Amino acid sequence: MPQRKLFVTTALPYANGKFHIGHIMEYIQADIWVRVQRMQGHMVHFVGADDAHGAPIMIAAEKAGKTPQQFVADIAAGRREYLEGFHIRFDNWHSTDSGENTELAQGIYRQLKANGMIATRVIEQFYDPVKGMFLPDRYIKGECPTCHAKDQYGDSCEVCSSVYAPTDLIQPYSTLTGAAPELRSSEHFFFRLSDPQVLAFLKDWTQTPGRLQPEMAKKASEWFDAGMADWDISREAPYFGIEIPDAPGKYFYVWLDAPIGYLASLKNHFDKGQARAHWHAPSRTDASFEQFVADPQVEQVHFIGKDIVYFHTLFWPALLQFSGRKTPSQVNVHGFITVSGEKMSKSRGTGIDPLKYLSLGMNPEWLRYYIAAKLNGRVEDVDFNPDDFVARVNADLVGKYVNIASRAAKFIPEGRLVAGDTTGAQPQRLVDSVAQLYEAREYGKALREIMAYADEVNLRFDAAAPWKLAKEGRGDDAAAVCSACIEDFKVLTACLKPVLPTLAAQAEAFLRCEPLDFSNAATPLGADHAIGQYKHLMQRVDPKLLDALFEPPAEAAPVAQVPGGEPLAPTIGIDDFSKIDLRIAKIVACEPVEGSTKLLRLTLDVGEGRTRNVFSGIASAYKPEDLQGKLTVVVANLAPRKMKFGVSEGMVLAASHADEKAQPGIFVLEPTVGAQPGMRVR
Ligand code: MSP
Ligand code: ZN
Repeated sequence: MPQRKLFVTTALPYANGKFHIGHIMEYIQADIWVRVQRMQGHMVHFVGADDAHGAPIMIAAEKAGKTPQQFVADIAAGRREYLEGFHIRFDNWHSTDSGENTELAQGIYRQLKANGMIATRVIEQFYDPVKGMFLPDRYIKGECPTCHAKDQYGDSCEVCSSVYAPTDLIQPYSTLTGAAPELRSSEHFFFRLSDPQVLAFLKDWTQTPGRLQPEMAKKASEWFDAGMADWDISREAPYFGIEIPDAPGKYFYVWLDAPIGYLASLKNHFDKGQARAHWHAPSRTDASFEQFVADPQVEQVHFIGKDIVYFHTLFWPALLQFSGRKTPSQVNVHGFITVSGEKMSKSRGTGIDPLKYLSLGMNPEWLRYYIAAKLNGRVEDVDFNPDDFVARVNADLVGKYVNIASRAAKFIPEGRLVAGDTTGAQPQRLVDSVAQLYEAREYGKALREIMAYADEVNLRFDAAAPWKLAKEGRGDDAAAVCSACIEDFKVLTACLKPVLPTLAAQAEAFLRCEPLDFSNAATPLGADHAIGQYKHLMQRVDPKLLDALFEPPAEAAPVAQVPGGEPLAPTIGIDDFSKIDLRIAKIVACEPVEGSTKLLRLTLDVGEGRTRNVFSGIASAYKPEDLQGKLTVVVANLAPRKMKFGVSEGMVLAASHADEKAQPGIFVLEPTVGAQPGMRVR
């Protein structure tokens, strides 16, 4: 195959938080793919960056008492520890808040404008008069226009699931200041996605085979059928972002400049002069960044998660196309990682803290192996199951692969290989098949083939029983059998190398061979080749480590210095308060609500000789079994409310910041020991 030229990226993580296991999974997936390409002699630039802009980061920085620049720089400073820790080898890491990105984003915008792709329109939006800024939907709450539940977000109701515009909310308020927002108009800039030319381009682009996974191409056509609206790409000051040329006080919406950050990081990489390092064909070293990204032979490959597909398969290719640039070759979408079947929840401290994993001394390659074993080319979630993790690493990696070297090395005097009997082994076939599976991101299948091969080698070893041969004085025969096993171990090492780069390096040192790649993988070391002394290559996983990994932190994670930031409600008299009848309730049953990810159904005993049915939007914070049997406080005289899933007869009290989704989450109230169901709370 002629040498490929590749430009590979992963999604740019928001710079308002540390990496979580979902990020690490994405990087491991992409890193393996990149290593596979390099092992085939292809040229790759693999870059990432922090996604620095947008209102949430601006607001988070303010809460932390920092400038947004300082805030994102502090997050960026922590990135290396994770990437190095898990052997994720980006060639460059940059930021969307950079000179390169400003220049590229403004340039792309100018091209779009010159090509007639930008429209302006005056729109009305909510404005927080106290804060002095237009409010993104997520910072507006109010009463649901459909079911009249209070404190619902600006886009949809968590209680009845109806979807609406923030302007439909009854008594809306800003979650930043509590102020009633005002409608104000301003001029916004739009990218004309509804233009027939754009639609025609996207239909063709998304349906071209090889570009998107079939399920994603199908999703795209559903979106076309639903109709494409123009895309609002501008935001009003104050905004942490890139200024729109010739439009004072207006900034690009963060999702406009975020993917351009891929190009910015690549440009930064070129400008640092490091691009040459991975460019194996010497004749091509002098390409500039602009030449490289315009080169029709360069393949641009993005790895992303399933939640950001719309941006990457519609907005992004259209932005590139209509600004006269090359469009991506492939967008590879992965599912989400769950832990023991559950969505990660930062507030409950489940999920896996990547740094805790490392600080416990757990081998990063165990995780790389386990995640790879679960990944395929489709958009499917990947579950981290602790027992399965221990079993796979110990049984496959240590029990099958490492075992071959540790058993075979004993019977090769002075490490000198002898002509072996390789009957049955088909190394080239394995290497070819595995390379193809890796290319298609079918890592699980690749590893299964590798382990099946390792099984065969172990079976041959057992059948030949070299330990017996050695006892019977047939040391030469034992050495021949074991030399063949070492040859197979070498093939297996090459095949595992993209997943386990440091283990492979140790194995190469033991084998005293050249760095392995896909071209030399199946070439025998040959008779007389001297291998080194075998040193144990990998420890088994002690299941206790998994217990430690999942142990909740001793103290709750520190909360931002400035608390919730929710202003006090207007003063009331005791009479107002006594209108609310609060009672102690026993949660006699608690169950998930089918069709809702937000609600739990509680059966409450409020000491009335009957039970009540209450829905509560706390499913993000509690498992049903966490609450069953507990006491809590309920608003007992709240008018019953008919909801999508049934009637709710009351409301359970819970504490949270104004934004319930913010750390540390939601906490249901619980009385101290001795309270009885039905007691009044006053
Ligand atoms: N900043 C945007 C991406 C801009 S790309 C130009 C963003 N950032 S993110 O930090 O929220 O997510 C970064 C990547 O992590 C996304 O691809 C996302 O799908 C992925 N994941 C986030 N949670 C995940 C899991 N639980 N599992 C796997 N990947 C997940 O979106
Ligand atoms: Zn509602």
